Amino acid sequence: MTDSLRGQSGVVTGAASGLGRATALEFARLGAVVVVADVAADAGRAVVDEVRALGSDALFVEVDVTSPEATEAMVAACVAAFGALDFAVNNAGTTGTPGSVVDYPIDAWRATMAVNLDGVFFAMRAELPVMVAAGKGAIVNVASGAGLVGFAGLPAYVASKHGVVGLTKSAALEVASRGVRVNCVCPGSVRTPMLEGFMGGDERVERAMTAGVPMGRLGTPDEIASAIAFLCSDAAQYMVGHALVVDGGATVQ
Ligand SMILES: NC(=O)c1ccc[n+]([C@@H]2O[C@H](COP(=O)([O-])OP(=O)(O)OC[C@H]3O[C@@H](n4cnc5c(N)ncnc54)[C@H](O)[C@@H]3O)[C@@H](O)[C@H]2O)c1
Repeated sequence: MTDSLRGQSGVVTGAASGLGRATALEFARLGAVVVVADVAADAGRAVVDEVRALGSDALFVEVDVTSPEATEAMVAACVAAFGALDFAVNNAGTTGTPGSVVDYPIDAWRATMAVNLDGVFFAMRAELPVMVAAGKGAIVNVASGAGLVGFAGLPAYVASKHGVVGLTKSAALEVASRGVRVNCVCPGSVRTPMLEGFMGGDERVERAMTAGVPMGRLGTPDEIASAIAFLCSDAAQYMVGHALVVDGGATVQ
C-alpha cells in the first residue's frame, strides 16, 4: 500500500462498528488521523481509543447522517481539529427490515432510504465543497453487492445501495476535473455486527450465504477496509466513479 495517506485527515461515518471501525483503524495504521462519526457514542469513543493505541489520533463526533446539519457539523469538526478534509468514507448504513415489495412497511422504506441513501447524499453535500475548494480529496461511499444485483426480500436495502452506486457516479463526474475523486466499494457478505444480526445466529443462513461465495467464506472487515484505503490513496489516482467489488467472487457468477 502506498504511503500517500500518511499525515492526511478525514471522516469515516458509521465508524463505531464493523466496516467503519476497521476502516478507521486501517487509516490509523497508514498514518492518517480520523474523525470517528457515528450515532453510537460509547462505541465510537472506544474506537478513538483504539486509534490512539495505534499511535495515530482521532476525534469522535456524534452524527446522525440523516441530518444535513449534522453532516455539515461533522465536516466542520474535522477541518477545525485536523486542518483539512483529505478523505471521507460514507459508510453508515442499515439493512432495514426484510419484506416483499408489496407488503413493505412505508415507514421502514423511508427509514432505510434515510440512512443509506440520504445519509450519503447529505455527507457528500458537506464534503464536496471543502474538497473542491482545496482542489483535492477522495470520497469512498460504501454501497454493497446489493447495489449491483437484486435480492428478493430486501427491496429498500437493494434500492438504496443501487442509489449509492448511481449517486457516486454522478458526483464523481461533477468533480473529476477539480482534483476530487469519488468512488464506492461494493462489499459482499462480511462478518460484522450488522451481518450477525441479519443471520440471527442461524447457522443454516450462514451456510447458505457462504455457499453463494466462490471463495467459500464470508469476508472480513479488514478486507473491505484495505480496499477503501486503496481507493482513497494515490495508488488509485486515476480511478473515478468506480464501483469496486470486494466479495470473494459472489457477483461475477
Ligand atoms: N456487513 C456486510 O456484509 C455488508 C455488506 C455490504 C455492504 N455493507 C455496508 O457496509 C456499511 C457498514 O456496515 P457494517 O456491516 O459495518 O454494519 P454495523 O452495523 O456493524 O455498523 C454500522 C454503523 O453505522 C452506524 N449508523 C447507523 N445508522 C447511522 C446513522 N443514522 N448515522 C450515523 N451512524 C449510523 C451504526 O451505529 C454502526 O456503528 C453499511 O453501509 C452496510 O450497508 C455491509
